[in-house]
Amino acid sequence: MTAPSYPKAHAELLERLRQRQALIGVVGLGYVGLPLCLTYAEKGYRVLGLDIDQSKISAIGEGRSYIQHIDGGRIKWARQNGRLEATTNFACAAEADALILCVPTPLNQYREPDLSFIRDTMAALLPYLRAGQVLSLESTTYPGTTEEELRPLVESQGLVIGETFFLVYSPEREDPGNAHFNTATIPKVMGGSTSACTEVGVALYEQAISEVVPVSSTQAAEMTKLLENIHRAVNIGLMNELKPLADRMGIDLYEVIRAAATKPFGFVPYYPGPGLGGHCIPIDPFYLTWKAREFGMHTRFIELAGEINTAMPAYVVQKTVDALNEVGKPLKGSRVLVLGIAYKKNIDDMRESPSVEVMELLREKGAKVQYSDPFFAAFPRMRRHAFELSNTPLSAEALAGADAVILATDHDAFDYELIAAHSRLLIDTRGRFAPGAQVVRA
Ligand SMILES: NC(=O)c1ccc[n+]([C@@H]2O[C@H](COP(=O)([O-])OP(=O)(O)OC[C@H]3O[C@@H](n4cnc5c(N)ncnc54)[C@H](O)[C@@H]3O)[C@@H](O)[C@H]2O)c1
Repeated sequence: MTAPSYPKAHAELLERLRQRQALIGVVGLGYVGLPLCLTYAEKGYRVLGLDIDQSKISAIGEGRSYIQHIDGGRIKWARQNGRLEATTNFACAAEADALILCVPTPLNQYREPDLSFIRDTMAALLPYLRAGQVLSLESTTYPGTTEEELRPLVESQGLVIGETFFLVYSPEREDPGNAHFNTATIPKVMGGSTSACTEVGVALYEQAISEVVPVSSTQAAEMTKLLENIHRAVNIGLMNELKPLADRMGIDLYEVIRAAATKPFGFVPYYPGPGLGGHCIPIDPFYLTWKAREFGMHTRFIELAGEINTAMPAYVVQKTVDALNEVGKPLKGSRVLVLGIAYKKNIDDMRESPSVEVMELLREKGAKVQYSDPFFAAFPRMRRHAFELSNTPLSAEALAGADAVILATDHDAFDYELIAAHSRLLIDTRGRFAPGAQVVRA
């Protein structure tokens, strides 16, 4: 690849995007960035992946996947067909016609937005931005980030947004492990800084993704993503609030939700669980809470849902303590087998997993904790938690050897008949088993 010797005008960029001649740069090759690279490559574009993590670059170079649900064959194919290159050398960004940012946006220790990854990425890219490029931010963030953080940086390079350079925000809606939708088939919301930017943004995404949904501004696009995740967090919070109530009333909440879901309009089923997990739902809503303070507003639903959802691991542990007590055992010294440590079923992602919180609380109270999860041969190293554990394969002996078994993540790979047949005491946080003498809903 050679550096471009001339800037491209608006029309030229549109043409290159529409003709699939554009070089698509994707920055941040994680759960969002890697499938995006492959989607563009499979639609006929050449793709340049940029990351600071050399191990990912090496894996791509070798045609190997480092994410469980992404088939390495796709990477191999893209490599063999000259569609995908990956590097840590940000100077190559100058060659790209489009730069799509998919870097993390976590919360800091005060539960406030941590934009350091976006800022670091922009600092690394800035010397290589040039006229005729489009920059799209996909990381989840609060409304205003694109205009307040990215725009001034781009303009500091003498580039004119909407004339020589194009800036858009388009939230990622990746749902790892979803068998029905993938990057190419999930409609893509997108808002540009100016109408020319929006036009370029449509051209950037319309070839690769089945439906592009333009909105009037980058702020509207940013808020759309937060609304989706807030809607989910609040509704799961509502179910988690009703869970202990239904339990005390002797009502099966899952039966109720399933019955309510037969209403053909006006009801969307959400399910309770052991707490929220993943990179998005426990985190993203607080991006809006933080931004709302600037406007003198409070987001009470978000705070309340957060409070209820984060109390769930303690609820699961309390139900375990009570259930063991019923059979004359203290939690201290009891063997507890936790089934599933991924934050949701059928994936190998543990970020913010409530299972970890449950395991931590159990261990604090003196339980002997083991886990079984086919996606993790060993308990991964985490920033805030340390378990020197390896996977306990699911077996009749392992189940029967535990004083309590907690179903935390209901992977399809688990043998549920085996679990039901051999668990002496089963704490079910996912509504998989009918409540009974040995089964406690939590
Ligand atoms: N994972 C999901 O399912 C999902 C879904 C929707 C939206 N999102 C959002 O997408 C964004 C990315 O999430 P993810 O799950 O892909 O994260 P991830 O941690 O899997 O990947 C991020 C990648 O960015 C790289 N990176 C970090 N700093 C960098 C820098 N300065 N320059 C270049 N690369 C850098 C990391 O090495 C990593 O490979 C986040 O804002 C997240 O909220 C994620």
